[in-house]
Amino acid sequence: MYTQALNQKDVAPAAGPAEDPERLARFEARVAAEDKIEPNDWMPAAYRRTLTRQISQHAHSEIVGMLPEGNWITRAPSLRRKAALLAKVQDEGGHGLYLYAAAETLGTSREELVDQLLSGKAKYSSIFNYPTLTWADIGAIGWLVDGAAIMNQIPLCRTSYGPYARAMVRICKEESFHQRQGYEIMLTLARGTEAQKAMAQDALDRWWWPSLMMFGPPDAESAHTDQSMRWKIKRFTNDALRQQFVDATVPQGHFLQLSFPDPELRYDEEAGHWRYGAIDWEEFRQVLAGNGPCNRERLEARRRAHAEGAWVREAALAHAAKRRARRAAERQAAE
Ligand SMILES: [Fe+2]
Ligand SMILES: [Fe+2]
Repeated sequence: MYTQALNQKDVAPAAGPAEDPERLARFEARVAAEDKIEPNDWMPAAYRRTLTRQISQHAHSEIVGMLPEGNWITRAPSLRRKAALLAKVQDEGGHGLYLYAAAETLGTSREELVDQLLSGKAKYSSIFNYPTLTWADIGAIGWLVDGAAIMNQIPLCRTSYGPYARAMVRICKEESFHQRQGYEIMLTLARGTEAQKAMAQDALDRWWWPSLMMFGPPDAESAHTDQSMRWKIKRFTNDALRQQFVDATVPQGHFLQLSFPDPELRYDEEAGHWRYGAIDWEEFRQVLAGNGPCNRERLEARRRAHAEGAWVREAALAHAAKRRARRAAERQAAE
């Protein structure tokens, strides 16, 4: 699911000794020429740091993002819905794995990245700290949260770091299925009984603003966007992506005959954009700081899963060691 500018420290300021200007110039020329940067290529320390943080936050978001929806797998209203939701949640797990692998190519081990999540040091998308109260929330998440993720992620298919860009190509294909299955749930509910319609409306009311927050703080407060844009880690600013999402999503909501919980939402004919009201950034900061409705529950669930999976990791390591020993013995016998 997502990447976003989670906080204002989007790109760490260049710390430590200054980069060799010649190498930096060569690197920047390659990026400007749309060359992909690969794991063994020279890169500025700040580029490595920013990407490690961004890709690992993205991976954590995929993994934590499995939790709110996983909550509904056993309660899906039909076998078809259950199969689709199960597939979607598994896809998110897969996205997390590709992304941890991509982050590892920058030199930080997966263990370390996972530790950062479990210790509460690393961030993940604030949206997953909201609860899924009804089945309609599964529709709203697919439609809005995966929809917002797609807006963020399509440009990442062209990001300057090769392994990240390649992982995003497959992820985006799967995200578009996620968005469609969510919208289809909303459509079914919106065309259903009064109670179903009310459930769909309530889900939109609760998920709309948090979805807009997924794009991160406004450009004016996102101090390091410039460097990320220059290094082509980011292709569009937070506000540009947010506007693109609103423009794409509002007509879809109107097609459902639902209303958006924003009295200031209106179409600006001249600009060709839907204008929206002020976002409550204090809520965003609170959720990010760990005070959202489900922050504690989500981290606890991850810690428990990690502890309960310890035997699997140990068994996999033991199996790999045995295979290595067997191969070495075979090689020796063959010599
Ligand atoms: Fe997704
Ligand atoms: Fe995903």
